[in-house]
Amino acid sequence: MTDLATAPTADILRHQLADALVAAGAITSPDVERAVRTVPREVFAPPGTSLADAYADDVVITKRRADGQPTSSVSAPWLQARMIEQAGVGPGSRVLEVGSGGYNAALLAEVVGPTGAVTSVDIDLDVIGWARRGLDAAGYPQVATVVGDGEHGHLPGAPYDAIIVTVETADIPPAWREQLAPTGVLVAPVRMRGLTRSVAFTRDGTGDSAGSGDGLVARSLLMCGFVPMQGQGSIPEQHLDLTGGGGDGGDGVVVLRVDDDTTTVDPGALAEALRGPRSDVWSGITLPGNTSFETLLLWLTGQPVPYGRLFVDRDRAKVHFDGLLAPFANVSPAFLTADSLAYLVLRKLDSTVPGAQPPGESRWEFGAHGFGPDATLVATMLCDAVRAWDRHAPDPHIAVHPASAATDAASVAASDGAVRLLVPRRHATIVVSWSAPALTSAATA
Ligand SMILES: C[S@@+](CC[C@H](N)C(=O)[O-])C[C@H]1O[C@@H](n2cnc3c(N)ncnc32)[C@H](O)[C@@H]1O
Repeated sequence: MTDLATAPTADILRHQLADALVAAGAITSPDVERAVRTVPREVFAPPGTSLADAYADDVVITKRRADGQPTSSVSAPWLQARMIEQAGVGPGSRVLEVGSGGYNAALLAEVVGPTGAVTSVDIDLDVIGWARRGLDAAGYPQVATVVGDGEHGHLPGAPYDAIIVTVETADIPPAWREQLAPTGVLVAPVRMRGLTRSVAFTRDGTGDSAGSGDGLVARSLLMCGFVPMQGQGSIPEQHLDLTGGGGDGGDGVVVLRVDDDTTTVDPGALAEALRGPRSDVWSGITLPGNTSFETLLLWLTGQPVPYGRLFVDRDRAKVHFDGLLAPFANVSPAFLTADSLAYLVLRKLDSTVPGAQPPGESRWEFGAHGFGPDATLVATMLCDAVRAWDRHAPDPHIAVHPASAATDAASVAASDGAVRLLVPRRHATIVVSWSAPALTSAATA
């Protein structure tokens, strides 16, 4: 039981949160730091949320669908701070937030100050009602709240110096670019073949500061996760249950998510393949424990290979698959053929082998578990891709072209041998490219 006499107050917790975000490097701007030290986060959390939960550096879910899936939340503070910084928002900025809740809009209001303007749009009437009440109670009546599909932006407030999208989007609708000021910044959590990154885009200005091009180019990206977009911009992924033959409450132990129309797999054959045998291939590429490899995940996503993400309930999988299906994470990138797959794994190197690693340091090796008739081939392809990533350690370049220019993007992709991921959507083609060469023909055969 909490001792109320000694429990930290909201003020104390707010400053502790700000201190932690500054120490972790999530906040570098004095304006954002002041905003986090000022806005009462607990006002925007659902009734009954403890102060400790309201000020944890974590998501607070505010609404769920009937099946339990979250549809709205107060996003994690580190992510809110970093996205505001990605957008370069400052005093006097005019900002549109797509996806509301109130707290982030209040942070933005603090950052833009009395000479700026913040408009927050949400498709859900309940969310806007909740955000409005919170903003008024916390002292931010100047923030405009609007019910609508953020796919269309909000024309009456345009042009915006920044549009910050706080819901996962698979496409870039034209309104977002059109409603940006010439030097404005669009920050959006873009889903590319299942992988979501918060990308800060500016207009592609072909060199001029007025941004006269008809596309967008990325200037920063950040790993993140958000609830998916509803409304006209909703583009669901395919969810293929590969648990196969469970029938005893085992549904959903293994689900393959595929985020493109060009990948065709046979879920029955893949479910059968997962019953074994398994082919293990190791890459020889190692890294110390607790090292981020998020660029590897984007690199794998971009390889010219059918691709999906394998979601595994690992505890239940131990029982259903007799320990054979053993990914190192709940979500793993997977290379696919119609009837075979290989997912990425890490194994801890044996510290007793002399010379395997410096004393006291744990090292991990990337590899792949393959299943199905092409198990070894597809696992080898995955390891080849890991080795290519290790050789080039490339930084991706991300651009958005209007869908009408998609053919041009595709022809550029073929011309210089660089690896390119093309994500063709209804409004736009998202092009991720790396200067590193594509996999060798042996690997892509
Ligand atoms: C993660 S929450 C937003 C968090 C919020 N910005 C905050 O203060 O932390 C995502 C929101 O996006 C909304 N949303 C989903 N699809 C939308 C759409 N097409 N247009 C506008 N809002 C949408 C959801 O209703 C949900 O409230």
